[in-house]
Amino acid sequence: FRFLRWTWRLTYISAIAGVAYAGYGVWEMRNPGDQPPPDPSKKTLVVLGTGWGAVSLLKKLDTENYNVVVVSPRNYFLFTPLLPSCTVGTIEHRSIMEPIRNFLRHKKASVQYYEAEATKIDYEKRVVYINDDSEIKGDVSATEVPFDMLVIGVGAENATFGIPGVRENSLFLKEVGDAQRIRNRIMDCCETATFKDQSTDEVKRLLHMVVVGGGPTGVEFAGELQDFFNSDLKKWLPEIKDNFHVTLVEALPNVLPMFSKQLIDYTEKTFKEETITIRTKTMVKNVTNKYIEAESAGPDGKKVIEKIPYGLLVWATGNALRPIVKDFINQIPAQKDSRRGLAVNEYLVVKGCENVWAVGDCAVANYAPTAQVASQEGTWLARMFNQMAKTQEIESELKLLSEKQEKAPNKEARDAVFDEIKGLQKRLRRVKQIGPFEYTHNGSLAYIGSEKAVADISWWSGNIASGGTLTYFFWKSAYINMCFSTRNRVLVCIDWAKSKVFGRDVSRV
Ligand code: FAD
Ligand code: NAI
Repeated sequence: FRFLRWTWRLTYISAIAGVAYAGYGVWEMRNPGDQPPPDPSKKTLVVLGTGWGAVSLLKKLDTENYNVVVVSPRNYFLFTPLLPSCTVGTIEHRSIMEPIRNFLRHKKASVQYYEAEATKIDYEKRVVYINDDSEIKGDVSATEVPFDMLVIGVGAENATFGIPGVRENSLFLKEVGDAQRIRNRIMDCCETATFKDQSTDEVKRLLHMVVVGGGPTGVEFAGELQDFFNSDLKKWLPEIKDNFHVTLVEALPNVLPMFSKQLIDYTEKTFKEETITIRTKTMVKNVTNKYIEAESAGPDGKKVIEKIPYGLLVWATGNALRPIVKDFINQIPAQKDSRRGLAVNEYLVVKGCENVWAVGDCAVANYAPTAQVASQEGTWLARMFNQMAKTQEIESELKLLSEKQEKAPNKEARDAVFDEIKGLQKRLRRVKQIGPFEYTHNGSLAYIGSEKAVADISWWSGNIASGGTLTYFFWKSAYINMCFSTRNRVLVCIDWAKSKVFGRDVSRV
C-alpha cells in the first residue's frame, strides 16, 4: 500500500515538473533574450531569399560572427511540400508558413531583414540593389546594400517555355498566393457550372480541371483535387458529380520520371481507379482562355493537334531562371554557358566569383532542384561560414602570440608562448578541415491521392520502393517531422483532423 502511495506521489510530482518545464519552454519561445545589435565592424554577409536554402543557412549560422543582412520579398518561410494540400483546403496556408522575424529574433546576434526584392547584383561594386515592391511605399523604396560576402538563394520561377497564353490563362503552384487562387478558382468553376440555364457543354468545360506537367507538383495537385471531389465536393454540390473531371497532361511517356518504374506504374494505376485521366506523350503548344491546344500522336502515328476545353488550368512544368539570376550570369564571363542556373563549384562558390555563393534552385550543382538539396546546401554553408570565422579568430590570436613571443624577455617565457602557439596551430588545422559539399539523397516521396503515397527511399546502399496507404502514413509522419517549427506541426495536425471531421471548407473568398 505504501509502495502505491509513493508511486502516486512520484507520478504527481513528475507531471507537475513536466507541465512547468513545458510552460517554461513556451515562455522562453515567446520571450527570447536580448540580442546584441549587428556589428558593422564585422564582414557584411548578405543573404538573398527566405526559402529552403537561405533559411537552412540562417538556422545554423552563428550570427555573432558576421553582420548579417537578409533581403527577400517574402517575410516568411514556406514549407512547400504541403502546398498542394492548401489548394483544396486540407491544410490552411498559414499552418505551413513561419514568419522570418519570429525565427530571426531567436538568433544569438540580431540580423537585419529587409522586405524587398533584389533587382540587381553589381559584382564589381559589391552591392545589391533592392526594391520595396509591396503596396505601401515610404519615401525611399529603392536603395542599395553593400556586401563583403553574398549568398544567393532566390529560388526559381515557373517555366512556361514561351508557350503562348500560359501566363495569361493558367494558374501556377509555387507560392501561397497561387494556392489561394487555385482554391478560389475551383469553387468558382463549380458554382458557375451550377448557374441557372448553363448548357451541358459549358458545364462540362467548367468542370474539366486540367493539370499540365506530370512531375511531382502536377501529380500531387491532381491527387489532392480528386480527393476534394470524392470526400466533399460531390456531397456538397451533388449536381456536379457526373461532369467533374481531372486530366493530367504530360509531354513524356510517363509521369513522375524521377521515381522507379514500379512506382510510376502504381501511380498510373491508382489514378485510373480514381478516374483521373492521364494524357502522356501530349505536349501543350498553345493556351487560350477556354481550351488548350495539345500535340500528340494520332492512331496512325502522325502528330495531331487537339483542343481540350478546361475550366481550371494549373501549369506545373518545372523551373526557369529568375531575372536577377539571368542578369548576374550575363555579368560573369565564367558563367556564359550556364543555362539552368548559376554554376557553382563543390564549395558552392559561384564560378568566376569570389565571396559569392549560391544555394537551392538558382544554383546548378548536378542535383535535382528539391527542398532536400537546398536545405543540405544551406546547412553545409552555415557550417563553413562558422568555421571560416573560427579560423580567422585563431589566426589573429596566433599573430598576437607571435608578437608576444618576439618581445619575450627570456627563453622560459618564449617557450611558454611557443607551447601556446603549438596548441593553437593544432586547433587551426582541425578547424580548417572542411571537405567539399556532398549531397546525401534520403529518397523521394509524393502523395498521389486517395490516402496513398509513393516513396523511393535510400536504404544502406540500396533503394526501397513502396506505394500505398502505409506509405501515406510514412509520408505524413516524415513531413510532420520536417515542418519548420513545433507551431507548424501542431497547426498541420489540427488541420488534418479538422478536414477529416468537418470536411474541407468550400467557401470562396
Ligand atoms: P525557394 O524555397 O523557392 O525560396 C526562394 C526565396 O527567394 C523566397 O523566399 C523568395 O521570396 C525569395 N526571392 C525570390 N526572388 C527574390 C529576389 N529577387 N530577391 C530576394 N529574394 C527573392 N522538394 C522536395 O524536396 N520535396 C517536396 O516534397 C517538394 N514539394 C514541393 C511542392 C511544391 C508545390 C513545389 C512548388 C516545390 C516542391 N519542392 C519539393 C521543391 C522545393 O520547394 C524547392 O526545391 C525549394 O523550395 C528550393 O529552395 P530555394 O531556397 O532554392 O528556393
Ligand atoms: P518537373 O520539372 O519535375 O516536371 C515538369 C513536367 O512537365 C515534366 O515531366 C515535363 O515533361 C512536363 N512538361 C513540360 N512542358 C510541357 C508541355 N508543354 N506539355 C506537357 N507537359 C510538359 O516540375 P515540378 O513537378 O514542378 O517539380 C519541380 C521540382 O520540384 C522538381 O525537382 C521536383 O522534384 C521538385 N518537387 C518535388 C516534390 C516531391 O518530392 N514530392 C513535389 C513537388 C516538386
